Amino acid sequence: MCGISGAVGLKNISNLLYEGIRNLEYRGYDSCGVALMNRKHLVVRKNVGGVEEFFRKENVLSVRSKIGVAHTRWATHGKVTPLNTHPFQSCDGHFALVHNGIIANFRPLKEQLLREGHAFVSETDTEVIPHLLEKFYQETHDVEAALVKVLHVLEGSYAFAFLSTHEPDQIFCARRESPLMLGIGDETKFVGSDFTAFIDQTKNAVIIDDGEYAIVSRDSYVVKNSVTLEEVEKPIVKIHWDSETSKKGGYPHYMLKEIYEQPHTVTAALDLETASVDELADLIAKGEDAYFVGVGTTYYVALFAKYIVSQLAGIFIPAISSDEFAALASVNRKSAVIAISQSGETYDTLSALKFARSRGARTGAIVNVMGSSIARLVDQVILQRSGPEICVISTKAALSQMVILIRVALRLGLKRKKLTRKEHDRALGHLQELPAIIQGILNERSGFIHRIAHKYSKTRHWLYLGRGIYYPIALESALKMKEVAYVHAEGMPGGFLKHGTLAMIDQDIYSIVFIPPRKDQELYQATLHSVEEIRARNGFVLGIHFDERGKNKELFSEELMLPPVSPLIAPILQLVIGQLFSYFTATSLKRTIDKPRSLAKSVTVG
Ligand code: AGP
Repeated sequence: MCGISGAVGLKNISNLLYEGIRNLEYRGYDSCGVALMNRKHLVVRKNVGGVEEFFRKENVLSVRSKIGVAHTRWATHGKVTPLNTHPFQSCDGHFALVHNGIIANFRPLKEQLLREGHAFVSETDTEVIPHLLEKFYQETHDVEAALVKVLHVLEGSYAFAFLSTHEPDQIFCARRESPLMLGIGDETKFVGSDFTAFIDQTKNAVIIDDGEYAIVSRDSYVVKNSVTLEEVEKPIVKIHWDSETSKKGGYPHYMLKEIYEQPHTVTAALDLETASVDELADLIAKGEDAYFVGVGTTYYVALFAKYIVSQLAGIFIPAISSDEFAALASVNRKSAVIAISQSGETYDTLSALKFARSRGARTGAIVNVMGSSIARLVDQVILQRSGPEICVISTKAALSQMVILIRVALRLGLKRKKLTRKEHDRALGHLQELPAIIQGILNERSGFIHRIAHKYSKTRHWLYLGRGIYYPIALESALKMKEVAYVHAEGMPGGFLKHGTLAMIDQDIYSIVFIPPRKDQELYQATLHSVEEIRARNGFVLGIHFDERGKNKELFSEELMLPPVSPLIAPILQLVIGQLFSYFTATSLKRTIDKPRSLAKSVTVG
């Protein structure tokens, strides 16, 4: 995720560009850059850091210009460095371009351009585009014609915008699978990766569709189809949002937006190169012993990993809460320690890793923030590419980490011959179904979960029960409830009940039980047994299950049904329900959803 903002007007636009790109910072904030046309010359400034810091340090507002494009980056290809920051220029300096998305065929294109004598300065996929523009301009002597040729060779997803000294009064832009829109002001026209880029200046927008490109100048714009080259009539859309709503994509809170982004973040997790998943699996396999560490939510992700690796690869890897790691783990040079962290900055997890390294252990990590302390510290890192997670409560990042860990477990299973190639591939096939199934659940179950959550929102104490791999799901769902709704929720393995907790069960105790699909016979029966124990004492049970309606009617006080799926992905779906249930309980209780009291997004103190 990155942000694009562009403006062309009658007067100086550098302040408009600043406001536009600052509004987009929620999409990515590890580096920032601008290209401005100043007396027919391109001025390009870029650096690592947030938008405000960049504009101040580079003194961007002092450059007067009537046309420019800006970019805020969330790195996917290439490290967070000034050289990898957008805009990118052609060798001759006549083109400067900003881009969102991934150019899938950038490697062969880059090799070809290198052979033809083009020089590259970055590790990014984006940089091929300005070089291609230069190459095709030399052939056609026409910027639009060069752009069309570029669009015909690019594969992958993109929204990009560029300036060219050959047409110094126009912004050129194009889109495929990445959002792009124009803002139509009276004296100024805008380009943005979403409305937020210009919403404070104009509420009139034109949405560019896949396969279209646009040429924008101060007093006009044209949108064309990149195949037929015909002009496309585009309606002007009135934006009713304010800039805050727009940043949240129309959702009332980042938490809900991020829950709804999960089909995409799971796709991103499934698209991660097999090589990096393999390397982490290798790190684990080569260690004489291994540990998973994380804290809060990521400790529960680590617990999930413990179960899935045991299930698929037959290896027992303890999960330890980072804050307890030094007290508990006995690591040495032959150990492998795998950390899980959204921010990559959490003090406890960083300390656990430093401790492990001080004992000579090899370290690996799954993190969401490129260039973060943990990403830089470890020997092996997987960047999960979930995009910025703004809500303090982790949802999409944790769910993606679980998906990545299933992939790691599958590779380990294959390496250790616990799984045949056929079993491995079948499991991968089930994982591939996840994004669409999550989307279906979000579309079809949210309303019902909302109603149930509202109905029981006054409940002060919940028990969250799950057996086997549903135990970490219960723990994580209970943590969501505590941190966003401030309601007491205790996660517990179902089998634990009869060893004490059962004594307090009566009609005033409310439980949520995460039930596996029937195919998981033993776990299914054992979980239903826990439900019976509670019901026999008149306790309330909300059962989340995969059976058909009415199958266990008398067993549950309330039931929530999920579509029949493979046991491999079932726990992930249960977690989506846990997230939504907490969110809707919290909205009923009018909590400050995205910034719960006493909590911070990244806990960098011990
Ligand atoms: C998640 O909802 C919590 N706010 C918290 O437990 C968090 O997961 C924990 O602090 C670890 O953070 P990290 O993933 O950034 O390392």
